[in-house]
Order: sequence, then C-alpha cells, then structure tokens
Amino acid sequence: MDDSWKDEIPTPALVLNYNIMQKNIETMAKFARDNNVNHRPHVKTHKCPIIAHMQLKAGCKGITVAKVGEAEVFAQSGIDDIYIANQVINPSHIDRLAKLSKYIKISCAVDSQKNIMDLSKIAVKNNTELEVLLDIDLGLGRSGVQPGEPALEMANFIKKTDNLKLIGLHGYEGHLTPMMNLEQKEKMANECYKKIVDTRDLLNKNGFGINHISTAGSGTYKYAAKYDGITEIRPGTYVFSDEHLHMVESDFELAVTILGTIQNQTGKKEFTTDAGAKAIATGDGKPVFKEFPKSKIRVMNEEHTQFKAIGAEGLEIGHKIEFFPAHICTSINLYDYIHIVKDNEYVGRWEISARGKSY
Ligand SMILES: Cc1ncc(COP(=O)(O)O)c(C=O)c1O
Repeated sequence: MDDSWKDEIPTPALVLNYNIMQKNIETMAKFARDNNVNHRPHVKTHKCPIIAHMQLKAGCKGITVAKVGEAEVFAQSGIDDIYIANQVINPSHIDRLAKLSKYIKISCAVDSQKNIMDLSKIAVKNNTELEVLLDIDLGLGRSGVQPGEPALEMANFIKKTDNLKLIGLHGYEGHLTPMMNLEQKEKMANECYKKIVDTRDLLNKNGFGINHISTAGSGTYKYAAKYDGITEIRPGTYVFSDEHLHMVESDFELAVTILGTIQNQTGKKEFTTDAGAKAIATGDGKPVFKEFPKSKIRVMNEEHTQFKAIGAEGLEIGHKIEFFPAHICTSINLYDYIHIVKDNEYVGRWEISARGKSY
C-alpha cells in the first residue's frame, strides 16, 4: 500500500484515518437511530470541534463534555446544546457556566447539597437558571448519590433551591467497561439501569415529572439503549476506539495512531524511535505496534521508545513507525493538532482546540 503520506508529517504526530472514523460515526449513528435513543457523544476523546460537528450531522443531539473549559471551546464553535457530565465545583467555573447558560442550552451533574447551594447562589447573581441532572452512583463509586431514598432527598433539596431546574438523572456504569464476559456484563449493566429507572419512578411518585435518563459509555451503550427508560447514551471513545476498547467492543475500528520515526539502530533488530512517553500517554499501559504487533518495547523514556523488532524486515533509520496507544483520550490531550489521512492521502491537520482545557 502507498504510504507516502507518512513522509509529509513531521514526527512524533497524531494521525487520524478519516475513513475509519467516518465509519465509526455512521455505525453508532445507525445504532442510536435503530434503537430510538439519543446519542450525546462525550467529546473528551477527540477535543476537536470539527469532529463534534460531524457527529451532530450524523444525528447526535448535543454533546457531552467533562469541563467548563471544554464547553466554552465547543460553544464558540457553534454547538448550542452541551451537557457537562461532571460536577462543576469552583465558584469561578460556576460563574463561567452561568455565563454560557445565557447563550446556549447547557446543563451539569450534581450530587451534593453544598454544590447545589453554590450553583444556585451564582445562578441568582447572574440572573439565570441552571439545568442540572442528579448524578446517581451505579457502582462506579466516583460520584453520585445512592439510588432510591437518598436520591429523592437530594431531588427535593434541588426543588427548594432558587434558579435550578432538575431535568433528569445521570448514571455512568464505567466500572463495567473492561469486563470480557459479555453475558455477565449485560446482566450487571441491566441491574444498574433498573436502579436508575426505579429511582426515576420513586421521584415521579413524589411529584416530579422526570423522563430523561442519560448514561453509558462505549463499553455498555448497547445494553443501555435497549433498556426501557434510558433516553440517552454518551459513548465517546468509540469514535477512534483504542487498544483497550477494542478488546471488549469490536464494532469500532482503531482510527488513530501515533507516528514516530526510527532515529537510531542500537543492535541487530534493535531500534529507537523519536516517540516516547511525551508523545504517547502510557498511564494506562504501553502502546502496540500497528504493523508488527509482536515487537517488544524495551524502554520508554520521555523522548524515545527503544524496541526489538519482531516480524519486521528491512527497518532502518528514517523509517516511520505507527503505534496504537493503550488509551486514546489521554494521548490526544498531548497534541495541538491531529493530522488527517483520507483515502490514503494526507489532507491536512485539524486543531485539537479543547486540548488541555481541564479547568
Ligand atoms: C461520565 C462519563 N460519561 C460517558 C463517558 C464515555 O465513555 P467512553 O469513553 O467509554 O465512551 C465517560 C468516559 O470517561 C464518562 O466519564
């Protein structure tokens, strides 16, 4: 295959196979349509407005982000329906959220009385109303109130608070994503959904009128979409997939690699590339070689990866090497641009505008 596009990209670099990403977007859009559920993609994976617009064009209604800084970037790109699937705690962040609420539809998740009071106070000060989803802990243990009575108590607290509107329930069963036993995974996912749907029923018996339940990522969306009462799914990683996701969900192909160049030969079949731990996030495991996956990484330093080539012939200094990172989202956040290859041709680079917007 002609891979002359590799010579047009200075390394280390992020490279997106446009065709694969397009197929991933279409696959998920068709699934959401067929199952009559809204897909609100979590854009923390790509942090790139042009890709979010492609997802919206395919049928998604709105996007999901984790931080106010990300919401600002995507709002400025023209997206007007954003859910922050996280708690917004710092008063200065809440103030920016209140300002965004003046010109787009924006909501966030809540799970504590202190945060609810702070949101209310700053919403009143800004003369705006903030929409919130009540975060229900489905077993991940990272955030959320317990389902049932504790959730009802917190919903009543929101109701009594000025300038806040409870618009739905939030869940995230991310602890189930890595499970390899799919039968067991489906059973446990359904137990999570039962808890959140039962909680909605309890709230509605007590005078609330809640229909909206948002949950799931790329490892559980299939089960969530089929569960009666779940109205929205939030998969994000599916758009590029990665080594970890691909082990449990093979409907999506890997669309992004990190391109490096061999810069040293240190022995027979032993090489060093210019892509090290500052080019490929390693917190969730080592990357895999795209073309010769049996090759062994010996050491990863900040600027170098030393490896023994296995199953590769004719490698020499100057050769380009493609890596699949174990976890794509943290690698994306290392780069200002992603280089685009379409129909095997280099077509330019897109800015990762929300890169580093963790505040
Ligand atoms: C709250 C929340 N929702 C949705 C997602 C999307 O999950 P995934 O990246 O597996 O698609 C995440 C991922 O971190 C998340 O934290």
